[in-house]
Amino acid sequence: MPLFVKRFRLSTMLHQKKIFAIGGLCLFVWLGVAAIKPPAQKIRNLKVLPQDISDKRLDSIMQTYNKALGVNCSFCHVKPRFNIGNRDSLDYVSDAEPMKENARKMMQMTIHLNKTYFNFEGNQQPDYLLKVVTCKTCHKGEPFPPED
Ligand code: HEC
Ligand code: HEC
Repeated sequence: MPLFVKRFRLSTMLHQKKIFAIGGLCLFVWLGVAAIKPPAQKIRNLKVLPQDISDKRLDSIMQTYNKALGVNCSFCHVKPRFNIGNRDSLDYVSDAEPMKENARKMMQMTIHLNKTYFNFEGNQQPDYLLKVVTCKTCHKGEPFPPED
């Protein structure tokens, strides 16, 4: 084989190697980014309710609070600081409204009452623990339970 043909072959081989190396590097970076990127999951700020609660269940619990206390969602949830788009939307994740933390204490108390005094059959389902004595049992549609 003439020398110049050999040279030519060698140079294309080197060229191919480079392409492989760059391709490999890209794949490596891409996989790395994919591994670092958190899975598409909502950021929740739940300290009492289970982390894996469904949107539907969460919403129905929140609706019962509105009814039991005779309030709106904004009683415990603040408006977002930068409100672009929907002007009526609230920042449900934020703890800026102190009433939210008060409500957490109330939830814990309610769970405690049901766990301690109504859990006759050892039924530990969290749903049950929020359902015998409820917010409404005491609040009767008022933010501060009526005295009589
Ligand atoms: C009496 C107070 C109160 C009212 C009224 C209330 N919430 Fe909540 N909400 C809470 C508390 C407390 C939590 C956090 C529960 C926890 O930490 O487990 C919460 C959590 C939430 C979350 C979850 C936020 C996150 O971290 O992902 C959503 C969504 C939500 N509320 C929506 C609503 C909606 C919609 C309404 C009106 C229908 C409403 N809330 C009314 C007290 C309230
Ligand atoms: C055993 C009775 C009882 C139950 C059950 C109960 N509450 Fe209360 N709650 C009260 C009383 C009494 C007050 C008034 C406290 C005061 O005057 O300081 C109150 C006050 C509050 C307040 C006003 C803030 C504060 O701390 O003073 C919020 C908000 C509240 N409750 C939310 C709830 C929610 C939400 C539930 C259900 C998860 C609930 N409560 C269940 C008795 C109850």
